[in-house]
Amino acid sequence: MLKGDITQAPVDAIVNAANPSLLGGGGVDGAIHRAAGPQLLKACQAVEAKNGIRCPTGQARITTAGKLKARHVIHTVGPRYHIDPTPEQLLSLAYKNSLELAQLYQCRSIAFPAISCGVYGYPINEAAEIAVSTCQHSSFKHLNIYFYLFQQTTFDAWERLVP
Ligand code: APR
Repeated sequence: MLKGDITQAPVDAIVNAANPSLLGGGGVDGAIHRAAGPQLLKACQAVEAKNGIRCPTGQARITTAGKLKARHVIHTVGPRYHIDPTPEQLLSLAYKNSLELAQLYQCRSIAFPAISCGVYGYPINEAAEIAVSTCQHSSFKHLNIYFYLFQQTTFDAWERLVP
């Protein structure tokens, strides 16, 4: 469990809590793009878009990482808690699809932010339960998984589950 800025994570893949356009935003999305530099936006723009959507909610896309230490950025889109249907399933899918992409690209380590716990309004304790139980699935046991939690509230929620 870590508390800190995910843009500094010394891992193979950093997960970005993005929106379906993959064109950047605020929160951790903004922080990752600022730290990675404009090459990251270029890499995102190269991802195929259908009606402006490059990454549907619950799915994940992988790009290079610009100036970041990491090899890859895995962009995933979490559910908007009060808008998207079945937010639990979609949040779990966002973690699962990110982990599967990391495995596909032979990553040994991956860092997650608290997906959907900011602008997308997911209740933090519920999000922590879903994140930790999805990541603890046996198919991901060979991956070193880190959670970079930027606020004390999110850190405490994850800490309760993974002492
Ligand atoms: N490192 C780690 N975590 C961070 C950082 C950072 N540098 N900056 C913010 N966070 C945390 C927030 O405190 C929150 O707990 O990331 C968590 C996710 O919050 P958001 O970034 O708001 O992401 P989300 O809730 O999934 O909303 C996604 O916000 O930024 C836009 O383009 C993004 O439209 C998308 C939406």
